[in-house]
Amino acid sequence: MAEKMLFEAENLAVRYPGGEVALHNVNFKVKTPTFMAIVGPNGSGKSTLLKTSLGMLKPIKGKMRVMGYDTVSENNKIRKLVRYVPQRDRIELSVPMKVKDIALMGRLLKKSPPRFARTKDKDIAKAALKKVNMDDLWNRAFNELSGGQRQRVLVARALASEGPILMLDEPLAGTDAESQTLIVEALGEYHKENNVNVVMVTHDLNPIHSIVKDVLLLKNTIIGVGTPCDMMDPELLVRVYGPSAKVVEYAGHRYCVTHDTGVDRHD
Ligand SMILES: Nc1ncnc2c1ncn2[C@@H]1O[C@H](COP(=O)(O)OP(=O)(O)O)[C@@H](O)[C@H]1O
Ligand SMILES: [Mg+2]
Repeated sequence: MAEKMLFEAENLAVRYPGGEVALHNVNFKVKTPTFMAIVGPNGSGKSTLLKTSLGMLKPIKGKMRVMGYDTVSENNKIRKLVRYVPQRDRIELSVPMKVKDIALMGRLLKKSPPRFARTKDKDIAKAALKKVNMDDLWNRAFNELSGGQRQRVLVARALASEGPILMLDEPLAGTDAESQTLIVEALGEYHKENNVNVVMVTHDLNPIHSIVKDVLLLKNTIIGVGTPCDMMDPELLVRVYGPSAKVVEYAGHRYCVTHDTGVDRHD
């Protein structure tokens, strides 16, 4: 039997209505199950690739498949498989929502109306919050939390939901060290225990390089696909991040040093 592919892209090109080509000549395959990182500097097309995989953007050339489904003609099937954490939280902060409301959304959004939270849904939402150490703030107002705490709640919402693919766009951006560690560990454990695919967009591979399996290096086209070790290659990183990028070794691990700020376009 043919191996199951999480992603397959063939000669993919994506252009925004404004005329800018964000992705071109994108060809890659990644097998399922995986914990995958999509890595590249600002503007390299990471968010564009995720949105294309969900059918939110249509290619001008080529095609992309997710678990065998075409992102244009079968995107309704893909959306049922995916739990997506967008780059900037889309939750309206002026609406007074509590931490529990956000986490429960992960349970309720995939149900058909009328949507009620049962005891089981609450238990699952609470367990997901516990994984990122936010269960004590169950009744706290979401808009009173720090950026890192909010991101942890959004990750918990995705963990509480269902579907074999978790996609997170820069979940570590603008978070403190404690939140980063909690998010990375929760995702790593969740992937191992449930065999769920995790696809994480990040401008910085360092915090996750020891748990990811496949790395896609992107700079508007594919610069490399492989293991984190293969991608921690000085030549490849210079091609992606410019001449100041370096690889350093410390305590048996390789880290990349770049001058990327991680301040991405948000829209
Ligand atoms: N809504 C949009 N309209 C026009 N151009 C866009 C839009 N979103 C992103 N772009 C452009 O497409 C390119 C890739 O953007 P993006 O996928 O957001 O990069 P990344 O997530 O890697 O920072 C950038 O040059 C960016 O300016
Ligand atoms: Mg982005």
